[in-house]
Order: sequence, then structure tokens, then C-alpha cells
Amino acid sequence: MRARTHTITAPSVDVIAECVHAAVQAPSIHNTQPWRFEAHGRDIDVYADRSRQLSVLDPSGRQLLMSVGAAVFNLRLALFVHGRMPVQRLLPDPARPDLVARVSAGPTTVAASTAQILAAAIPHRHTNRFPFQPAAIPWPVLDELIGAATAEGATLNHAEPVVRDAILAVTRTADDRFRARTDYQAELAAWTSTAPDRRDGVPADVCGPTDLAYRLPLREFCPPVHQATFERHPALMILATRGDTPYHWLRAGEALQRVLLTATARRLDASPLNQALEIPGLRRLVTDQSAGRYAQTILRMGYGGPVPATPRRPLAEVLQTGGSPP
Ligand SMILES: Cc1cc2nc3c(=O)[nH]c(=O)nc-3n(C[C@H](O)[C@H](O)[C@H](O)COP(=O)(O)O)c2cc1C
Repeated sequence: MRARTHTITAPSVDVIAECVHAAVQAPSIHNTQPWRFEAHGRDIDVYADRSRQLSVLDPSGRQLLMSVGAAVFNLRLALFVHGRMPVQRLLPDPARPDLVARVSAGPTTVAASTAQILAAAIPHRHTNRFPFQPAAIPWPVLDELIGAATAEGATLNHAEPVVRDAILAVTRTADDRFRARTDYQAELAAWTSTAPDRRDGVPADVCGPTDLAYRLPLREFCPPVHQATFERHPALMILATRGDTPYHWLRAGEALQRVLLTATARRLDASPLNQALEIPGLRRLVTDQSAGRYAQTILRMGYGGPVPATPRRPLAEVLQTGGSPP
């Protein structure tokens, strides 16, 4: 009797396009969208696009890789809800460090309901830089967010009031330092988009107001047009990983996206507040190396109003299909 073999088929071109479309909805530093995808057979290779790296803000490429990690998480999720078990390998080829992930379509499966909920949240997640309501985040929701980070190998800590105030103080220091630098301002201006047909960068309608009390130093993408009163006691969450290598940065991005989608599914909004992590001396203050925890992002979370979506580059610019395996 001949043994029956099960061949795992390649997803259709349409399924690949839908999965990559989901991937590119991920957040990225300054909406740089620093990614590229190549599909061949069952594999989708994800590349970091170094031409989109922020040389002033992100010379190590840490936040670039976090952005790509967030896209890889969406890609895995989309494959899963399309009925294929995603199998991911991060940094699969040491000779090609910009090939940051290979996500393969594994055997057919039925996605768990949590995955369905997270995938449904992808188009509704937007960075919200507007004031939030004063309402506290309920404990069960905080627990879910912490669970989301843990599931991707990271930790998430809700900053207690004294830590929160210290973080806000160092973030203000970092923000003042950056704003005094012309190279930072030039880089920010280059990624702040005013042209209506531009498909990357941060558009003016999502910039948000400045805090009347200058307590909450959100990154000022656009020249300040108006001021507003923000929540007095912002909820800050620190996402950290147990190492600080390119691998950990990718995992941090996956964890970030899982946390953000979990938040969106609970109608919770978020905006990163990362200036303090972009100055090594200040990042060390937020990092707990003795516990092996490296701060990767600080999130302000709360309940806000609707915000518009930011643009994305067309798929044709970032996806190549049908090539032979490298
Ligand atoms: C690694 C990373 C760091 C970010 N840092 C900041 C930040 O410090 N301040 C901020 O306002 N937004 C920050 N963002 C949010 C991006 O600006 C945002 O994702 C991008 O403009 C796309 O918009 P969207 O999130 O609404 O899709 C960050 C996003 C990522 C992935």
C-alpha cells in the first residue's frame, strides 16, 4: 500500500494580496512604512527597507524593526484567519540581515476566536493624539493587554503615579532637547505630509493639539495650531523585552501590535510617547537592566474619539509575487 502524502499548497495570489494588505495597516515610526514583501510558493518574505530609516531619530534601526515586526504580526494574523497556520522564522538568513522574517502558510486550520477578533480590529486601529476621557482603564482590560504582550514574549507594565510622573518629566526633557535640534526638525518635517496625494508620512489631520498645561509632551508633528486640555492622569504603559537585539526589536513590534489590536477590540485608544527612549541616557532610566527588561515603547492609553486613518502606499509598491525562491 502506498503511503498517502499531504502536500501543503501555496495560498492563492488573492489571499497573499489580502494578507499583505493587512500587514501594511500596521503602525510604523513616522508612518515610514519601512517594509517590502516577496511571495514565493508558501512563503512570504518580509524585508526591512533601510532607505526609509530615520537617521536622526533611529540610527540603530530599532524602531524601524519594531515597525516591521508590527507588520509581521498582522501578516501572521491574516494568514491564520484565511485558514492557514502561520509559521514564522525571524531573521532566517544571517547573510541577509534585512530579510527580517519568513512567514509560511502551514496546514489548513480554523482560526481561534481571539484571532478573529484581533484581525477584525486591524482596520479600526489608529494612533490617537487627541485628549482622552478621564475614565480609568478597568483591571480586566489591563490584564488582557498584559496577556497580549506576554503572548509575544514581551512585558507590559502600567506605570504607577510616581513612575508615570517621572516618565512624563524625562519625556519633556527629551522633547525639549529634540525640538532644539535642526536635524530632528528637518527629519520630522520630511515625514509630516501636507500633500493630499502623498501615501506615507503623518498627515496634518492626525497631529492633534498641544497640551495647554504642557504636561503631556506628545510628539509635535505639525506646527502647533491649537491647544487643548488633556487628561490629567494619563495611563502610561511600558512595553519591554528581555534583550535588546534586532530579534528582540522585531518581537517588540509584534507584541506592540498585539497589544494595540487588543486595545482597539476593547474600544481603547493609544498613542506612543517615545522621545525618552530615543536618547540612550534617558532610555536607561526607563529600562530595568537588572531585571533584564529593556524598554521598547511607552504607550499612553485611554478612551478617545474617532480619528482618521493615515494613508498607505499601494500594494504594487511593496509586494512582489510569483518569484522563485532565493
Ligand atoms: C515603533 C513606533 C514608534 C512610534 N513612536 C511614536 C511617537 O513617539 N509619537 C507618536 O505620536 N507616534 C508614534 N508612533 C505612531 C506612528 O506615528 C503611526 O503609527 C503612523 O503615523 C501611522 O499611523 P497609524 O498608527 O494611525 O496607522 C510610533 C509607531 C511605531 C510603530
